[in-house]
Amino acid sequence: MTPMNLEDAFTARQNKALISETVTPEKTAAYEAKVAQGRDDPEGFWMEESGRISWAVAPTHASTSDFTGNVSIRWFDDGKLNLSVNCLDRHLKDRGDQIALIWEGETDGVRRELTYRELHAEVCRMAAALRGLGIKRGDRVAIHLPMVVEAVVSMLACARIGAPHVVLFGGFSAEGISERLVDSGAVAVITADAARRGAKRIPHKATIDDALKLAGTISSVKHVIVVNVTDTDVEMKAGRDHAYSALVSAQAPECEPEIMDAEDVLFLLYTSGSTGKPKAMVHTSGGYAVWASYTLGTVYPQQPGDVHWCTADVAWITGHTCVVYGPLLNGATTLIYEGLPSSPRPGRWWEIVQRNRVTSLFTAPTAIRALMREGDDFPRQFDLSSLRALGTAGEPISADAWLWFYEVVGRGKALVLDTWWQTETAGIMLGPVPGATPLKPGSATRPLPSLQAVLTDEKGNIFEGPGEGCLCFTRSWPGQARTIWQGHDRFIQTYFTFASGMYFSGDGARRDEDGYFWITGRMDDVINVSGHRIGTAEIEDAVGIDHRIAEAAAVGVQHDLKGQGIVVFVVMRANKAGVLPSEIGEVISRQVGRYAAPERVYVVDELPKTRSGKIVRRLLRKIAEGQTGEFGDLSSLADSSVVQPLIDIVARERKPA
Ligand code: WTA
Repeated sequence: MTPMNLEDAFTARQNKALISETVTPEKTAAYEAKVAQGRDDPEGFWMEESGRISWAVAPTHASTSDFTGNVSIRWFDDGKLNLSVNCLDRHLKDRGDQIALIWEGETDGVRRELTYRELHAEVCRMAAALRGLGIKRGDRVAIHLPMVVEAVVSMLACARIGAPHVVLFGGFSAEGISERLVDSGAVAVITADAARRGAKRIPHKATIDDALKLAGTISSVKHVIVVNVTDTDVEMKAGRDHAYSALVSAQAPECEPEIMDAEDVLFLLYTSGSTGKPKAMVHTSGGYAVWASYTLGTVYPQQPGDVHWCTADVAWITGHTCVVYGPLLNGATTLIYEGLPSSPRPGRWWEIVQRNRVTSLFTAPTAIRALMREGDDFPRQFDLSSLRALGTAGEPISADAWLWFYEVVGRGKALVLDTWWQTETAGIMLGPVPGATPLKPGSATRPLPSLQAVLTDEKGNIFEGPGEGCLCFTRSWPGQARTIWQGHDRFIQTYFTFASGMYFSGDGARRDEDGYFWITGRMDDVINVSGHRIGTAEIEDAVGIDHRIAEAAAVGVQHDLKGQGIVVFVVMRANKAGVLPSEIGEVISRQVGRYAAPERVYVVDELPKTRSGKIVRRLLRKIAEGQTGEFGDLSSLADSSVVQPLIDIVARERKPA
C-alpha cells in the first residue's frame, strides 16, 4: 500500500471505497464463504469456531437463544471450561517462554516482561491467595487498579477460581464506586495505594475506604487487597486489608482451576444507560471465550512475534477483550502502558511502538485527535515500521482523523481498522477483515461473518439498501451480554422492546450503496465523552442532590478533542440562594467522577418542554452549540417563549469549548 496523494485523499473523504491494495481474491473468497455459512448455517459456523477453545467438556450445540418473551441468551450451554486455562496453561507447552505481557511504566526505563510461564505462575499464586481468603466460585471480586501487571493478573486469577470480576474505572468517585460495590455484592476489592500521573498521585485505596464508609453495613466487602504501585502511605485496617505482595508471595505457583459451565458468569461490567442507575452487563464464560478469540483473530489475524497494544484501560470492555482475553486466548503478546498518551512527554506512545516493535495499535478516536493536535513531528521522529494494523473503536472517527492515522502513523502501510462494538456486545460487531474488506475512511465497514445487522425505521421496521436508521441485530452472537445484573426486566426493556425479536443497539447508522455502515451516534440519552458513556440521567440525578436545584438537563455538544462535551442547564428552586456554575461542576465530579465534569453550566429560568412535560434535549443541544435559529418545528413545545432567553444566555456566556 502506498501513501495517498491529495486527489485520493479527497476521494476518500467522499466516502468512496479506495483503500483496497491489500485485498486479495483468495481472502475475499474465504470471507464471502464465511459470510454465507454464518448466514445460512449459524449452528455449524459457531460449532466450528468453538474449536478455538480448549474445553474440559466440549459443547454439543451452539446457540439456544430467544429474543422474544422473557429473552434468553445461551451459547454452548452443555460445555465446560476455564478461561484462565485457555489464556495460560494451554500455551505452556508450545509458547511457555514467549512473552505474554509487556508492561511499560510511566517512569522512564521502568518496564516488565512476563512470559506465558511467568504470567501463569503469578496468576496461580493470586488465585490461590484469593481462595485462601475464602473467596469461592460465584463470589464477585471488584478490581480497581491502574494499568499495572496486577490488573491483568487479578482478572485471570478471578477467572481461575470462577469468581466473576467487576473491574471499576479509576475515575469513578467514591460515591460511584460505593453504588457499584453494593449493586454487585462484591466480597473483595483489589486496589492500589495510588496511581501515578507524572508527579501527581491519584488516590485509590483512600477512595475505596471512602466508598466502603459510604456503603456502610450494606456492603458485603470483607477483604481489600492493596497493590503497592507508588509507595504512597495508606491506612490498613487490620483483618480487612491485605498487602498484595505479602499475600501472593506466600503462595505456591499452582492452583487447580475451577471448571465452569459455559453459562457461568465470567464478569460483570458497568456501563451507562438512559436512567441514572448504572447497569452491570453480565458476560458468561463459554460464549465469551469463543467470541473474544474469534473477533480478535478475525480482525487482527496473528503472526508469530506480533505485539498487540490496545491502549484501553482494563476497566472498559475493550480492555477486557482486546487487552486481556482476546490476545491471550490467541497466544499473542499483549502490551499495556501505565501512563496517558503524552505523558511524561509528547511522543511517548511512538517511543513505545518503536521499542517494542508493536504490530497492532488499537485506540480510541479521542486519543487520535489529541495526538493529531500535537502535530506530525512526534510520530515522524520514530521508527513505526513494525505497525501493520491501526485499530479504533468507541466513537465515530472522522475521515480526517482516520486519514491522519493512516498516513502519518501508518505511513500508508498499516490498515486502519475502525470497529464498532459495545460493552453489551463484548467484541467487534462491525469491522473490516484484513485482505477481504476494502476500507473507507470513517466507516466501520460491514458486520463480521455470521452477524445479522439490520437498519430499521423509528418504528422498528427493517428496510434494505442505502439509508439511515436504527442499528439492530436479528440474531444472537456468542459474546452477547446475557442480562443486566439484578435487572432482567430492564435488560428486556432497554434492548428488546424497540423492535420485536431484535437487539437494539441504541445507535443510529447510515448504510451506503456498498452495504457499508457509518455510525451516526447514540439515539438515546447517552453522551459519549472521550469514549466514556455517560447517561444524561446520571448527571441530572447528581445535580438534583443539590437542594437549591429544581431541575437540570444535560446535553452532549460537539467537542474538538473529546468528541462530545457535557453542557448542563439548571433551574433554581424559588426562594433559594443562587448557585454558581462551578459548584454544579463540583457536585457532578463528586457524585459521578471527574471524567463527567461539564464544559459549561447555565443557570436558566426555564427548560423547553413538551406539553407532556418532557424536556426537549434535542433543542437544548442545538442552543448549547450556539445555534440561534432554524430549530425546525417547535410546535410540540408547551411554551415556545422559553427559547429566546436560553439563546441569549448561551450567547452571553458561551466560551469556546
Ligand atoms: C460508540 C466501546 C462509532 C457507540 C467499544 C456505542 C462507536 C458505544 C464505535 C459503546 C465506532 C463504539 N464508531 N461509534 N467504531 N464503537 N461506538 O460500551 O455509540 O464503551 O454504542 O464500548 O460507543 O461504548 P462502550
